[in-house]
Amino acid sequence: MMEKTHLYGVIGDPIHHSLSPFMHQLAYAELEMSNHRYLPFHVRAERLVEAVRGMAALGIQGFNATIPHKENLVPLMDELDSFVQVIGAVNTVKIDPTGRMTGYNTDAYGFITNLREIFSESLRDLDILVLGAGGAARGVLAGLLQEGANRIVVMNRTLNRAEALVERLRVHFPDQPVTPQAWTNRLPACRLLINTTSLGMGDDDGSVPDLRDLVADALVYDIVYAPPVTPLLAVARGRGLRVENGLGMLIHQGARAFEIWTGRVMPVAKVRKGLKERMGVAELGG
Ligand code: ATR
Repeated sequence: MMEKTHLYGVIGDPIHHSLSPFMHQLAYAELEMSNHRYLPFHVRAERLVEAVRGMAALGIQGFNATIPHKENLVPLMDELDSFVQVIGAVNTVKIDPTGRMTGYNTDAYGFITNLREIFSESLRDLDILVLGAGGAARGVLAGLLQEGANRIVVMNRTLNRAEALVERLRVHFPDQPVTPQAWTNRLPACRLLINTTSLGMGDDDGSVPDLRDLVADALVYDIVYAPPVTPLLAVARGRGLRVENGLGMLIHQGARAFEIWTGRVMPVAKVRKGLKERMGVAELGG
């Protein structure tokens, strides 16, 4: 008898560049989960409600979401994992056999898990600078705060977005102040710099800010993974600073989703190797 097929996917607009289908399919292959499939679905913002209902009707068991859906999914869920309320965005949905949906956010977990692989110091009393105040910054900040960070500056081009984000975080982490700061082209001193923006990669971009005030053993983490060496990481490398891109965060957010859906542990090392081969990068990331 044929076994039931377990279906998963990722929704986004655009979606063609997503590495998630490759990552999950690789894990299924490694674990001999031959009745599992993970597919990309191009879903525009205005069709999100229809798409979500359709997935339940088709018996799809779970999906990831990327731009522009993460925030819009929140009110469509039947149940929310507690961390979603802090972050205000859903990137992983589990659908039970009756069609009931639970929303999770595994981005903060992915970021922190990767950070912990490469940076073992306590985050308490460490000077941390986060660039950006969008959806990605929210996940990063929630993760840092949960890990005990208490000296974080959030710098954003549009200052009032940073201020609004800080207000929101204060509700959940009242004892760990985060300071909003206006954009400067010379970054303040810090041990850990995390970029959540597309800095230096757009057509309209100025240059990467000056990193001379970062402490000598600072780690510069860019949550972008394509290209593997972003303009910011290139400058940081040039200054002899430690650098890391977002590949490890991508893998660990996916690994957590995999576990939520299947109850199994993603073979992270194999997946990392496969992703690096696919991206043609041997020396950096993850
Ligand atoms: P995401 O979900 O990826 O975080 P977003 O919510 O649109 O996307 O947020 C994008 C972030 O990148 C914002 O902090 C944005 O700054 P503004 O709030 O001032 O728009 C930032 N950003 C985008 N391009 C940037 C650039 N060239 N330089 C600096 N910041 C940039």
